[in-house]
Amino acid sequence: MAKEFWIGDVQAGDHDGVEVELMGWIKRTRGSNKIRFIVLRDSTGTIQCVVKKDAVGEEAFEEIKNSLIEASVILKGIVNVDERAPGGHELVVSSAEVVGAVRPETPFPITQSAMQAADGGETEFLLDNRHLYLRTSRMTTMLKIRSSVFGAIHSYFRDLKFTEYHAPNFVAGAVEGGSTLFEVPYFGKKVYLTQSWQLYAEAAMPALERLYTIAPSFRAEKSRTRRHLTEFWHAEMEVAWAGNSDIMEHGEALVRNIAKTVLEEREDDLKSIDRDLDLIARYADSPYPRIRYDEAVETLQGLGVDIEWGQDLDYSKEKILTQDFDVPHFLTHYPKIAKPFYHRVDPEDDKYVLCHDLLAPEGYGEIVGGGERTWSEQEILARIDEEGVPREPYQFYIDTRTYGGVPHGGFGLGVDRVVSWLSGADHIREVIPFPRDSRRVTP
Ligand code: 4AD
Ligand code: MG
Repeated sequence: MAKEFWIGDVQAGDHDGVEVELMGWIKRTRGSNKIRFIVLRDSTGTIQCVVKKDAVGEEAFEEIKNSLIEASVILKGIVNVDERAPGGHELVVSSAEVVGAVRPETPFPITQSAMQAADGGETEFLLDNRHLYLRTSRMTTMLKIRSSVFGAIHSYFRDLKFTEYHAPNFVAGAVEGGSTLFEVPYFGKKVYLTQSWQLYAEAAMPALERLYTIAPSFRAEKSRTRRHLTEFWHAEMEVAWAGNSDIMEHGEALVRNIAKTVLEEREDDLKSIDRDLDLIARYADSPYPRIRYDEAVETLQGLGVDIEWGQDLDYSKEKILTQDFDVPHFLTHYPKIAKPFYHRVDPEDDKYVLCHDLLAPEGYGEIVGGGERTWSEQEILARIDEEGVPREPYQFYIDTRTYGGVPHGGFGLGVDRVVSWLSGADHIREVIPFPRDSRRVTP
C-alpha cells in the first residue's frame, strides 16, 4: 500500500513517460459518460488525470464518474508531458479505484463560493469546519511555511550547540503577570498553565548555559486581535554570560535565518499566496535597527497618538509605529513600571530595564520579547518585594541566584506571529491548524 509516487514530483518532471500509481483526493471532476477529467490532489500538488471508460472498464468508470469532490482514489497510468495541462503534465489513466467515497447525501461542505466569501479563512463557517478546511490549498500552504519556520528555529539553535530543554506546563506562579493566567484545578489545589518556559530555563543556566525550546504557552487573553491566541507556540532561548545586546544579536540572527529559510524552502508556496518575495529577502538580508522606548513614544506622540510615558505599547500603537518600518526594529529600555520583575534594572538609570521587543514591519508589531535578567540575589529579592509579588512560588528562582548567579538573558519569539507576518496573513488564526481564542476551543 505504501505510497511511492507524489504529484509534486510528477509535475517536477521526475516520471515523464513512466507508469505511476497516484494516491490522492478528487479536487475537481468533469466530463461525459465516456471520459472524465479528474484534478487529483495530494499533499504535494495537483495533476489532471484523464479517465476513459474504454481504458478502465465499465465498473471502475462508473465509480469514478459518480465520485464526489474529496473522495480518495488510486489512479494508475502513464505520465504525459502536456504543455496545455496545468503544471505541464497529465496522467492517462489505465486503472482506477475509489478508496474512500463521499456520499451524495453528505457532499464536501467547503465549496469554492464558501472559500471566496471567506477570503482567507475568517468566517465562522470555515472555523467550524476547520478539520475539513485544513485540506484546502491556502491552509496547506500556510502549514508548510509554518513547518519551515519551526525547522529554521531548531537549526539555528542546534548549529550553535544550544541544548533543547523542557519546562513543565503546570506551574505555581505567573511569569508575565496575573491578568492572563489560566487557572487549572489540580487535586484540590489551584495551579496555572504556563505563560513562558523562561523561569525554569533560568534555573538550568548553571547546568547547561545555552538553552532553547519550542513549546506551547498559554495566555488568558480576552481580547481577540489579529495577533492573539490563548494557546500559542513559543520559541524561547536563554543564555548565560550574556547581556541585553548579546541577546538582541541572537534574536536578529534567528529572525533573519527564519526569513532566509522560508525563502529557500517555500518560494513557490509564498508566490501561490501572492506574498512579495522582495520583502522577505529584505528581512533576511538587512540589519535590524535599535531604538529606545522613549524615542518610540515621542514618534507616536508626534503622530498624534494618545500615549503616556510608562505605558507598554499595545497592538494599536505598535501597528501605527511599524506601518512605515522597512525591516524589523528593536525597541529597547522600556520603563521598569511597564515590565515584569525579572527584567534587570538599567544600572545607568533605574527608571528603565535592560529589555527589548522586536517589532515586525507592515503593521504586525511585536514578534519577540526578551532581555537581561535580574541575576543577583539581592536585586531579585528587592524587585520581587517592590512588585508586591509573593516570594514563595519563586523560591526555586531565587535559589538560582543564591548559588552562583551569573549574568544571563533570553527571549521569547511568538512562532505563530512570525509565520503570520512572513506569509502576509491577515490574522494569526490563518497559520495554525486549530486556533484557540477566548471564544473557540472547537473543533
Ligand atoms: O513578550 P512575552 O510575553 O515574553 C515572555 O513571555 C518572556 N518570558 C519570553 C522570554 O524572555 N523567554 O512573549 C514573548 C512573545 C511575544 O513577543 C509574542 O511574539 C508571543 O510571545 N506572544 C503571543 N503570540 C500569540 N498569542 C499571544 N497571546 C501571545 N503572547 C505573547
Ligand atoms: Mg512582550
